[in-house]
Amino acid sequence: MNSRQIRQSFLDFFASKGHKIVQSAPVVPHGDPTLLFTNAGMNQFKDVFLGTGTRDYTRCADTQKCIRVSGKHNDLEEVGYDTYHHTLFEMLGNWSFGDYYKKEAIAFAWELLTSVWKLPKDRIHATVFRTDDESFELWKEYLPVEQIHRFDEKDNFWEMGETGPCGPCTEIHFDRTPDKSGGPLVNMGVPEVIEVWNLVFIQYNRKPDGSLEELLSKHVDTGMGFERICAVMQHVDSNYDTDVFMPIIKKIEQLSGEQYSTSLENTVGIAMRVISDHIRTLVFSIADGAMPGNEGRSYVLRRILRRACRYARNLGFTEPILYKLTSIISETMGDIFPEVPQNLEHIKRVIKAEEESFLQTLDRGLDRFEEIEISLKNASETLIQGSDIFLLYDSFGFPADLTELIAKERGLTVDLAGFKELMDQQKERSRNARKQVLQQVEGNITDSKTTFDGWTSLQSQSNIIHFADNHIITETTPFYAEMGGQQSDYGTITIDQEIYSIRNVQKQGNAIIHIADREILAPHKPIATLSVDFNRRWDIQKNHSATHLLHEALRRVLGNHVQQSGSLVSAEYLRFDFSHIQKVSNSEIKEIQALVNDKIRERIEVITRELPIDQARNIPHVKMFFGDKYGDTVRVVTIDEQFSSEFCGGTHVQNSSDIGYFHILNESAIASGIRRIEAITSFGIAQYIADLHHTIETEKHTIDSLHDSLKSLEKELSIVKVQEVSSKLSELIDQAYHISNTSIKLIPVKTDRLSMEELKMLGDNMRSLIGKSGIAVLSSIVDDKINLVCIVTDDLTKEYPAGRIIGDIAKRLGGGGGGKPHMATAGAKDIHKLDEVLDSLEQIIQKS
Ligand code: ALA
Repeated sequence: MNSRQIRQSFLDFFASKGHKIVQSAPVVPHGDPTLLFTNAGMNQFKDVFLGTGTRDYTRCADTQKCIRVSGKHNDLEEVGYDTYHHTLFEMLGNWSFGDYYKKEAIAFAWELLTSVWKLPKDRIHATVFRTDDESFELWKEYLPVEQIHRFDEKDNFWEMGETGPCGPCTEIHFDRTPDKSGGPLVNMGVPEVIEVWNLVFIQYNRKPDGSLEELLSKHVDTGMGFERICAVMQHVDSNYDTDVFMPIIKKIEQLSGEQYSTSLENTVGIAMRVISDHIRTLVFSIADGAMPGNEGRSYVLRRILRRACRYARNLGFTEPILYKLTSIISETMGDIFPEVPQNLEHIKRVIKAEEESFLQTLDRGLDRFEEIEISLKNASETLIQGSDIFLLYDSFGFPADLTELIAKERGLTVDLAGFKELMDQQKERSRNARKQVLQQVEGNITDSKTTFDGWTSLQSQSNIIHFADNHIITETTPFYAEMGGQQSDYGTITIDQEIYSIRNVQKQGNAIIHIADREILAPHKPIATLSVDFNRRWDIQKNHSATHLLHEALRRVLGNHVQQSGSLVSAEYLRFDFSHIQKVSNSEIKEIQALVNDKIRERIEVITRELPIDQARNIPHVKMFFGDKYGDTVRVVTIDEQFSSEFCGGTHVQNSSDIGYFHILNESAIASGIRRIEAITSFGIAQYIADLHHTIETEKHTIDSLHDSLKSLEKELSIVKVQEVSSKLSELIDQAYHISNTSIKLIPVKTDRLSMEELKMLGDNMRSLIGKSGIAVLSSIVDDKINLVCIVTDDLTKEYPAGRIIGDIAKRLGGGGGGKPHMATAGAKDIHKLDEVLDSLEQIIQKS
């Protein structure tokens, strides 16, 4: 089974046992301050276990994305160095909320593993909590006692965190030793015998004071390691060898030119395992709204990303590569976790920006590390001082655990306590500094004024003049705020190395407000680096200039009554609403489109001028909008003095030819007397073609498979038709008459709507039914034509060859044919003579 089928069969199995299949919760938990990341399938049901929430079902199952990199459940250190720990994994789980308990939970697990998945029973071991005799007895129904083991709290009492629901558990382990001798290796941390499924019997709540409180109801909470069960079912030793990880590893191989090694010591193998693991964590957490950053959860992600970068360096990468692995994850898992493809571009951008920023200092940091190492060696010491760890952290962006990891590889140790002390001091310093900055920047929004400087340059630095929540205002900005139908720019704002994604920019009074993807942290220094997504802006500009050309083309083709009544300019397409009574005909559309494309091909320079209003008004045919208020000076955009000049505050291409090509998609009515045109340019057209192509391919596929099924249906139908007629053949043979004075049976058969092929099949059946001394002439009328088949049994073929007979018959019916002595076919058209000819077969045969 491939991983997709395994996941599905788990869910199908529990659905068949009355479980509701629910969605995975996000990996970034909402509303549980005790958790940084979702670390078990049961997290989303914590309230049900504690009795503070309910669901409208008592049994459910799902696959849950889990991240275990911090707190009670932390697998980060093992990742890459073994074959079965991950920072992110899927947990297949089933739950009972006060419904079934130990007996059914164990029975379900056993049935799925051994009856559905057919895993060998002699390789399954169960562990139970040392005092849980009930579970022990239940397992005895399925397993010999040698395969049931008792363990204590460490292994068989499961707790969600320092506090929360908990209870004894029974775990299922799978023995992969060649001779099935793995019993003593259960819970010994070896890959040959691994835990695959944990069934927890939730019956307590661990209180902050450490005491256990009995819950009102008893629940079941199970979790199966999806990647592990895939390895078991796919008969591979390592989770990384399954089809869950292999596509990512293959992509890394392809990008690096290195070959993956399954060896646990091989540095290429380790690096590829770490990267393929870490990238999944980054992709899924960013898809669920997390961002790499400096605090809490964000810092965990930054650490993971930097660790992955460092391993990528071991594979020889000096440029960002992690972001290139995101598409393969989206492709292979996107149908199960649609949040990944939905946010793919954002995920890519965030990872790439973060890699770029770390790579700027990684080399220098590694050099610095070497220097530290050399001076330690010279002094015959092995402990890296807290101050050096702090320096690597503060100046080169090395998270302490990255320094620790490199140190470990080189036989050195680290003074983490010393590092923490320095960190605390720094925090105190920055707390004080922030207070001052806050006082400086928390001005009143209505006083704020932003200067837009993004006409030509798309990146700049500026002072922050105000921020609150996720809003930020700077003195200057290259971001175009949504205005006059032109959509706002996208991009990033970086403050203190913290990257905020901006996808919405609004103008309020004189201020341009950037709306970030999350709360703006109080900055150390009130300075921001603003950078606009170049490609998006470029596409918007093309569509904006094309809108001006379209506007004028409409006036020239349809008449001067055309007035703009609305406009939308986005990166993907443009929409233009205008006054016009009747439908714009196809030929008018063609003419308008051709006119715009002519102007594009003329390579006209786009000229933008700030002019005093009185002067601007006098430009020939200038378009200004009634009802709009203009100041003393206005901005005028001209594309060919004789063609288009408009009052416009938007951004444009430099030359009409930059638009590339213009294509009208649609013309429609939106209100009485108002028409709408939707059009695309340049990359919008490329995208449109790609979509069309995809649609055609999909349709073609559907048609091909319809065609195939039609063919096979036709075949089946033929068989049924022939069978139906064949069932009457014996009767016909019995009624056959003999050629005078001979024992030769002569059998005319009249059918209809049988094709030639079907008639031949029938002929074959007939021949074997007659056996010997028989001649049959089969006919069928299809669409005004006659199909004819003559069959002759083997003993008569010399004297009465079928070819000759059919030729003679066909001639009389206005047709022709021929064939072998035992079977011949013909086509003819004189339907009205058919009965007569069939009646006189004897004469015909004797004459022929
Ligand atoms: N909640 C249990 C676990 O995470 C099933 O192992």
